[in-house]
Amino acid sequence: MLYMSTNEIRDTFLNFFEDKGHTIVDSSSLIPHNDSTLLFTNSGMNQFKNYFLGLEKPPYVRAATAQRCLRAGGKHNDLENVGFTARHHTFFEMLGNFSFGDYFKEDAISYAWEFLTEILKLSKDRLLITTYQTDKETFKIWNKKIGIPKDRIICIGNKNNISYESDNFWQMGDTGPCGPCTEIFYDHGKHISGNRPGAPEENGDRFIEIWNNVFMQFNRCENGNIELLPKPSVDTGMGIERVSAIMQGVHSNYEIDIFQKLIKAIAETIDFNNFPNQSLHVIADHIRSCSFLIIDGVIPSNEGRGYLLRRIIRRAARHGNKLGAKSPFFYKLVQILSEVMGRAGEELKKQQQIIENILRTEEENFSYTLERGTIMLNNTIDNLNSNVLEGKTIFKLYDTYGFPVDLINDIAKERKLSIDEKGFKKAMEEQQKRARAANQFSVDYSSIIKIGENTTFCGYTTTKSNTFITAIFLEGEKVELLSANDKAIVILEKSPFYAESGGQCGDSGIIQSDSALFKVEDTQKLGNVVAHYGMTIRGELTQGNTVLAKVDVKRRDSVCLNHSATHLLHSALRIVLGGHVVQKGSLVKPSGLRFDFSHFSSITQSELKKVERIVNTQIRHSHDIQTDIMDIELAKKKGAIALFGEKYDKEVRVVSMGDFSKELCGGTHASNTGNIGLFKITSERSIASGIRRIEASTGEVALDIIDDKNCAFEKRILKSINEAKVLKKEIQQMKEKIALKESSNIVNKVKQISGANVLVATLEEIDKKSLHLIVNKIQNQIGNGIILLASVTDKKICLISSVTKDLFYKVKANELVDIVAPKIGGKGGGRSNVAQAEGIDVKALPEAMRFVQIWLKEHL
Ligand code: ALA
Repeated sequence: MLYMSTNEIRDTFLNFFEDKGHTIVDSSSLIPHNDSTLLFTNSGMNQFKNYFLGLEKPPYVRAATAQRCLRAGGKHNDLENVGFTARHHTFFEMLGNFSFGDYFKEDAISYAWEFLTEILKLSKDRLLITTYQTDKETFKIWNKKIGIPKDRIICIGNKNNISYESDNFWQMGDTGPCGPCTEIFYDHGKHISGNRPGAPEENGDRFIEIWNNVFMQFNRCENGNIELLPKPSVDTGMGIERVSAIMQGVHSNYEIDIFQKLIKAIAETIDFNNFPNQSLHVIADHIRSCSFLIIDGVIPSNEGRGYLLRRIIRRAARHGNKLGAKSPFFYKLVQILSEVMGRAGEELKKQQQIIENILRTEEENFSYTLERGTIMLNNTIDNLNSNVLEGKTIFKLYDTYGFPVDLINDIAKERKLSIDEKGFKKAMEEQQKRARAANQFSVDYSSIIKIGENTTFCGYTTTKSNTFITAIFLEGEKVELLSANDKAIVILEKSPFYAESGGQCGDSGIIQSDSALFKVEDTQKLGNVVAHYGMTIRGELTQGNTVLAKVDVKRRDSVCLNHSATHLLHSALRIVLGGHVVQKGSLVKPSGLRFDFSHFSSITQSELKKVERIVNTQIRHSHDIQTDIMDIELAKKKGAIALFGEKYDKEVRVVSMGDFSKELCGGTHASNTGNIGLFKITSERSIASGIRRIEASTGEVALDIIDDKNCAFEKRILKSINEAKVLKKEIQQMKEKIALKESSNIVNKVKQISGANVLVATLEEIDKKSLHLIVNKIQNQIGNGIILLASVTDKKICLISSVTKDLFYKVKANELVDIVAPKIGGKGGGRSNVAQAEGIDVKALPEAMRFVQIWLKEHL
């Protein structure tokens, strides 16, 4: 038996079909582009959906891919099966060959047979075929042309008598391309339990489906109708992991090379050595889905795709706990994963640090959640009046705290409680109902936009165009006529309106005829058609009307400035922070721009200033903004930045700004960087571990922001000044209060010398003004007399003396300070009744004051 590694199988498959005239196309992202009906890419055909539907013309008629797929949530969901069977995964790679109106059943079947039996050299006796019951042609090809005995071809019908509800009628989702299929099964041998497909107990692991060949002939529309596709086509899918198991002589997918290495690494990381183990399988599966989701731009969150990612990470963490992991371990597996995934792991290597950061943060947060949840659960249990844990409580723990239900079960068991499963199920169902109602991944316009329709976009070179209406849609139905106040979608033969794409928002503007006006509020792409969403302001519009389509130029111009600035920002970030900066998302609107990117630490103010400076310098360099159409390989060779996971055609549009920036981009731009005028960053923060967001504005809006900022700054300063004034006044009042209190304290230190009242004292920390106050107050109290007070504040001495007129013949106030001042390194001055002095020799003050007392005794 031939042995092949998983990486060899991938290459062999692609080479085989390349030899058969197929173009090898890169795997698309796990996030389906321009397809609102799908949560995740779940099969190789997703990226070709519009080719099958005839909405876009394919650049080739045959293609082959190794596609990253995720089946968690949505129509194809294997999340709950992972770990329990030998063959289910959330993430897997699907090998597929496709024909877009070229070959059909006969060639597809022959290729598949040749590949399996002549290239992989599988034993024919081990292969079993299923076909759709009514598809007699396929049965005949297998039986007559390939020579498979009738008893090895099993016809599968509909389930429960529902049309097309069958394992042998493949559908992408609730809507979209579909058709009968023929599946090839591999018999792993009698020693494994399980029955032939179509029989009861077919779900065992003995007969495993390895390759599905779908004959795409129909489109299932939103209303459930099945329509014929323009050209019969072929879509096939073969799970690489299942083929690997066969080629490596093992039964379970988890025993193949990739998984064995992963499982070994997990066991080492957690220090667990009891093989085989279901939890190890779950973790090995989940590290693949989580890592690939993150490189395709999904970030854990509480809704949509992010929520699914969060759930998968938590499941992995929970299984790790079960095996005894005491601290975050999951993130440590990214390194080994990138090594074992061969060609498919290249991007993982580039983004390893981002993935690790995100996983680690999630794991840490989850352990905190578990801790909080456990406290809540224990509190609830302590306060229970019965021995049943209510369904509502379990649901709250599960829903709010993300607490795994099996863990709640464990704890309840430990505390000898039973669980209200019915109540929990009910709460769950209600939540699912709410989720279904809110599910945004179900609207499919492909059924209302007719096959073959398309709009020519002329908005790169002009903002207005004479054209005509090709279709009108009102409340999801195609109509002929639009009246005033109708909210509708208008489709034009040619349109200057840019439809939202690549982060740039859709244009707004007007569509007018001689008698009618339609206000366009938003523009979106539906397949190959540009859809103008808006309302008729006046008059009537009918299909076929000649109209003038005019984009709101002022708004578009602002968007262009922001889009061009986004490119400059991208390059500036790479210069200042480093080449690891990868764009993770962007939003370009008239009022400003938002740019998300990978970076692991916080960004300092000086780095941010540098980025802003560089962008503004490039604006002043006034580069012409040039767009060129070229082959994608050439563009990459010229250093143009392409986004990982973005779907690019062979011919791409390259937007260059001097030597400073070169990016693949389909958006609209200013004609010269100088037009941007000014670039101002308004905020910078982290939005997830390792991902940061910058918001900024350009042109007029940036000026407004600076003006507003200055204005606000001025206002703040004025406010501060006024506050300071008030505070100063308050402080002075406080000081005076203290001073007055002090004066009543020292008035009893007044002595009598030769019949005169005399007060000589040193006070603590009293300022000059307050000292004056005290002197006045005491003078008033004692009538006549001599006062000399000193105080030290801020290492400076302040001295004040006061003498009443009746004593002038013996001593005057200015004489008194002149006696002391020289002794304290200062100078005095004043009049006979009041004088003051300042000094700096604080140490000399007590002696000087003693001296003056003696002097007074002698002279009075
Ligand atoms: N699209 C088909 C599948 O996923 C091949 O099974």
